[in-house]
Amino acid sequence: MKRIGVLTSGGDASGMNPALRAVVRTAIVNGLEVIGIERGYEGLLNGWLRPMELSSVGGIINRGGTILRTARSERFKTEEGLQQASRILHDNHIDGLIVIGGDGSFRGAHRLQEVSGVPVIGIPATIDNDIGGTEYTLGYDTALQVAMDAIDKIRDTADSFERIFVIEVMGRSRGFIAAAVGLAGGAEAVLIPEVPFDLVQVCEKLKKGIARGKRSAIIVTAEGAASAHDVATFVEMYLREETRATVLGYTQRGGSPTATDRIMGARFGALAVELLLRGQSRMMTAWQRGELVSVPLSATWEQPRELDTSLLKLNEVLAS
Ligand code: F6P
Repeated sequence: MKRIGVLTSGGDASGMNPALRAVVRTAIVNGLEVIGIERGYEGLLNGWLRPMELSSVGGIINRGGTILRTARSERFKTEEGLQQASRILHDNHIDGLIVIGGDGSFRGAHRLQEVSGVPVIGIPATIDNDIGGTEYTLGYDTALQVAMDAIDKIRDTADSFERIFVIEVMGRSRGFIAAAVGLAGGAEAVLIPEVPFDLVQVCEKLKKGIARGKRSAIIVTAEGAASAHDVATFVEMYLREETRATVLGYTQRGGSPTATDRIMGARFGALAVELLLRGQSRMMTAWQRGELVSVPLSATWEQPRELDTSLLKLNEVLAS
């Protein structure tokens, strides 16, 4: 193996840059050439390639987003797109590819390996932390920190104005962010897609708190569970208490990576290069039970990640 490619794909996540830095520097130190592919698979299809040097990844360890940029490519999913991507890899003598992204990106990487024969390794990165086969994905810790800081700030207004706030966090199909920040932020109620909920019961719980003298409350909802605006409208009508909605949205995707995201990015990035050097393919770097490991890429869609509902139960007790 002489030359490898690296790309970032799908939703950007803090920790992508530290991972990219680790990939580039580990590869170069081990005698490999590195080609950065800009704008994910879309860039691969268009041949948007740039040689990476040790200095290309200088000063990025503390930056959110991805200096390679990212995209979601529909064209890459087609047979014609895969053939074209395969041609670009071979024409540019790229004999190993590292994909930093989420499960959709890994399905694409798996197919690309089948079509091109070029070994691929995935590094899990998405703020949702919802990829099978790993207990950690880059960007999750930074997103939690951003969301928790926002909840703390909103609580100041909630307490001062004696209002109820409904705060919507990201997670289009899973509630990992909501469950964790609900607990960290002391939310009175947490709504996630995995657990059915009844807004009347939520309101009755808040009512008991109000009867005990509570004058403010925070409800955290995952975007995949219910919209903050809908929940706020219902709560205000049911309880006749002033209720406001805030959607945290893309603030959770950006910002300087936390120490955890930098360290995990470094470890995942270095391991991804080692896996290629060991002749492995269709594997993903992963975190399981406190250990850095590698798992087949297919684990990302074959072993859906379980959400630990004990966080919600604990919060039910602590935030009563
Ligand atoms: O998967 C990460 C994520 O941030 C989700 O939480 C969110 O629903 C989605 O991406 C938004 O995607 P887009 O950037 O395409 O709007």
